[in-house]
Amino acid sequence: MRSHTLAVLPGDGVGPEVTEAALTVLDAAQERFGFSTARTEVPLGAEHYLRTGELLTEQMVAELRTHDAILFGAIGSPDVTPGVLERGIILALRGAMRQAINLRPVRLYPGVPTPIAGLTPERCDLVIVRENTEGAYVAQGSTVHRGTTSRVAVQESINTWFAVERAVDFAYRLAAQRRGRLTLCHKTNVLVEAGALWVDVMKAVGERYPDVETDYVHVDAMCMHLPVSPERFDVVVTDNLFGDIVTDLGAVLQGGLGVAASGNLHLDGQAPSMFEPIHGSAPDIAGRGWANPAGACLSLALMLGHLGEGEAAAAVESATAGVLAGMPALAGEGMGASTRELGERIAGSVREGGAPVVENSLMSQLARVMSA
Ligand code: IPM
Ligand code: MN
Repeated sequence: MRSHTLAVLPGDGVGPEVTEAALTVLDAAQERFGFSTARTEVPLGAEHYLRTGELLTEQMVAELRTHDAILFGAIGSPDVTPGVLERGIILALRGAMRQAINLRPVRLYPGVPTPIAGLTPERCDLVIVRENTEGAYVAQGSTVHRGTTSRVAVQESINTWFAVERAVDFAYRLAAQRRGRLTLCHKTNVLVEAGALWVDVMKAVGERYPDVETDYVHVDAMCMHLPVSPERFDVVVTDNLFGDIVTDLGAVLQGGLGVAASGNLHLDGQAPSMFEPIHGSAPDIAGRGWANPAGACLSLALMLGHLGEGEAAAAVESATAGVLAGMPALAGEGMGASTRELGERIAGSVREGGAPVVENSLMSQLARVMSA
């Protein structure tokens, strides 16, 4: 039987609630598609930090590295200074595991309310490929004359041909599995040095993918086009900071943070990739069963696609979409069912099989890209 090792990091707040729901769905997928997972739970997050003072340690990195994938819930607490957990855990994990790409699908599923008037599922099915290791996120920088009003802060952005090429090549490969369109999103009219590097990488890598059509959109213009005409886009590739910002806008189109999923992909098979819903730990609603498990379940589907379980991935995506379509509200008391009940509903639908609710599953495209 196929088997995968999985590190589970439920984290804080609603993180453990949505992770539990996703694991119920994983159980169902395993039963139906005949594979198994060996799961190790790793305590990381605000609660663990406040108790032990520990962020991501060398020892945890070594332990996590032995797994095939990491399933991440959410971390954070109002009792921890902003930046500590983000840098000490999330960015540290992305760096330590060399997770080159942050893959963020922007897909509006049928029946899901979107704040964008007139937007239909047919018009909203794109994927944002965010470079995940550098740009402004290298966390370097310096301050001179600290503590005075003469203070000067320098915060540079690093762009290496190596990392940009790795991201762009992945984006081309994904586009080749989809509608064959790749858009570079940057700000080449102002960030001329970084911009030129990205443009040159696009051209150089593009020679290997003559069938993929490319275009270019400035990041500010992207913020206009995305809500108004998302059908213009198939795969969008962009730098770390632009990708961070634009994917929050993307999440709005598809029904908000409760629905949005992401995968931090390691591409060379030497460390695990990590899958997480885009939402945070939402301490204000923790413990009430008011968190939407869809983002976590769709992240699970991405994980399954990445592990090569394409059929299971597509089934989890379809089941999640089916349950989403019947939800009276996307989060909170009005959801009409608790996080756990929704997880059970999605699991039930995975077990039953049935007609796919969505065609062209990104998760199976991903499985094909990863196995090529
Ligand atoms: C995200 C988050 C993170 C980021 C934070 C928590 C460091 O906003 O995953 O988009 O900026 O990448
Ligand atoms: Mn973000």
